[in-house]
Amino acid sequence: MSTNTCTNPITISLTLNSKPLSIAVDPAERLLDTLRYQLGLTGTKEGCAEGECGACTVLIDDQPANACLVLTCQLAGRFVRTIESINVDTLHHMHEQGTTQCGACTPGVVMCAQWINEHQDVLKHQSLRQLMSGNLCRCTGYDGIILGIEKTLNETNPATAHKDPR
Ligand code: FES
Ligand code: FES
Repeated sequence: MSTNTCTNPITISLTLNSKPLSIAVDPAERLLDTLRYQLGLTGTKEGCAEGECGACTVLIDDQPANACLVLTCQLAGRFVRTIESINVDTLHHMHEQGTTQCGACTPGVVMCAQWINEHQDVLKHQSLRQLMSGNLCRCTGYDGIILGIEKTLNETNPATAHKDPR
């Protein structure tokens, strides 16, 4: 992640959910606030606001990032994806497993699962629990979340079926 110093109001251009976007932002504005309050993309949730819970997970240049820790003005030329861009397979399987209660963690969990799904070729031998360890859930046990994600991964990429060590 670039650490550009932002001292003045700035208009930046980036790609958000596969569409070009130019937006004026306060130098201190967090990506989380830009998404929720400027753009109305309220699927990305705020939990801890300090990079601990993963509720605000988005993908920046195809890597998971905590939107509560990223300044929007750092994102010129970057590719950002939010939960609004994701298909419902993971959500469906998590719902089947009964893993969504309050739902605060769910968008972040799904975004991390999406990242894993897109990088199965290099991540398939790693434990899902480890890969998902940055996404906390205060409501459920994690078994259903992991099972739901595993089912999604294995349906999407049967040739590289994820074998999660248990
Ligand atoms: S709200 Fe961003 S990590 Fe918790
Ligand atoms: S379902 Fe409530 S925090 Fe995970």
